[in-house]
Amino acid sequence: MGHFVIVADNFFTGFKRNVQHWIGHPNFELIRHDVVDPLMVEVDQIYHLACPASPPHYQHNPVKTIKTSMMGTINMLGLAKRTKARILLASTSEIYGDPEEHPQKETYWGHVNPIGIRACYDEGKRIAETLAYEYQRKDKVEVRVVRIFNTFGPRMNPEDGRVVSNFIVQALKGEQLTVYGGGKQTRSFQYVHDLIDGMIKLMNSEYSQPVNVGNPEEYTIGQFAEAIRDLVNPKATIADLPMPKDDPQRRKPDITRAKTEIGWEPRFSVMQGVEETVEYFKSIVDIL
Ligand SMILES: NC(=O)c1ccc[n+]([C@@H]2O[C@H](COP(=O)([O-])OP(=O)(O)OC[C@H]3O[C@@H](n4cnc5c(N)ncnc54)[C@H](O)[C@@H]3O)[C@@H](O)[C@H]2O)c1
Repeated sequence: MGHFVIVADNFFTGFKRNVQHWIGHPNFELIRHDVVDPLMVEVDQIYHLACPASPPHYQHNPVKTIKTSMMGTINMLGLAKRTKARILLASTSEIYGDPEEHPQKETYWGHVNPIGIRACYDEGKRIAETLAYEYQRKDKVEVRVVRIFNTFGPRMNPEDGRVVSNFIVQALKGEQLTVYGGGKQTRSFQYVHDLIDGMIKLMNSEYSQPVNVGNPEEYTIGQFAEAIRDLVNPKATIADLPMPKDDPQRRKPDITRAKTEIGWEPRFSVMQGVEETVEYFKSIVDIL
C-alpha cells in the first residue's frame, strides 16, 4: 500500500522468518524491541499487537504477560500521544470471559475470574482497553479497539497451543487430536486475512468504540476436531482429556457493529482457511 512499516517484536512467540520476505525492502524496518520499554520512533499509525496470545505462552510467565499488556500499552499510548498517531489496540474476545450472553455484543461487560489462571491475559487486555479510553478522554489520543475472536492462519506458531494449530499439527504427525471435557464447548474461528482486513478498515474509520472482529460460524470443538481429522488424516484418533480451569463454554461474536460501522464482514469460510493453513504446516513439517 506504499506505507513505511516498522515492526517491533521481542520474538517471544514470533519468528524473524515470518517477515523474512520483507527484509531488505526499502519501506521495511525490523527492530528487536520489548514493548515493556519505551520506543522512540516517528509514526502516523500504530497497530499495537504485541502480547503472547495462547494459554501456554501467556501462562509461561504471567507477570510478564500483565506487564506486556499494561506497561506495553502505556508505552504505545505514550508514543501515540507524542507523535499524534492513531493507535489500534488488539484486544480480545477473552475480555468477555466465560460469557453469560450469547452471542457476545460489544456492550456486554464480561464475566471474568480476576484471580484465575487466565486472568493475566484477560484482565491484562481489560486494563489495556481502560488505558486506551483514558488516553482518549484525557489526552485526545485517537484510539481504535478491535476485540479479536479466535484467529488462525499460515505463519502461526506450530507450538502455539491453540485449537486449530494443535489439531492440524497432531493430525499431520499422526498423533491423537486432543479435545477437552467432551468437546461440547463452542468456538468461532476466523481466518487471518479477514482479521487483517477488519483491522485496516477499523484503523481508517472514524469509529472509536470497541468492535468485535470474528467469524460467527460456530463449531463445537468435537465437530471441529472431526472436520480437521477427516481433511488431514482420517486415520488419526481423537482423545478426550479433562477440561482446564476457567475454559469458556461458548464463544461467538455478534458482528452487527462491524458490519454497520466499518462495513466489514468475513469473506472466508473456516474450512477454506484450514485448507491453506494445512498446506503451510506441511511446508514447515521438517522444522516441526
Ligand atoms: N490469534 C487470536 O486468536 C487472537 C485473539 C484475540 C486477540 N489476539 C491478539 O492479537 C495480537 C496478536 O496475536 P497473535 O495471535 O498474532 O499471537 P502471536 O503470539 O502469534 O503474536 C504475538 C507477537 O507479539 C510478540 N510479543 C509478545 N510479547 C512481546 C513484548 N513484550 N514486546 C514485543 N513483542 C512481543 C511476539 O513475539 C509475537 O510476534 C495479540 O495482542 C493477541 O492478544 C489474538
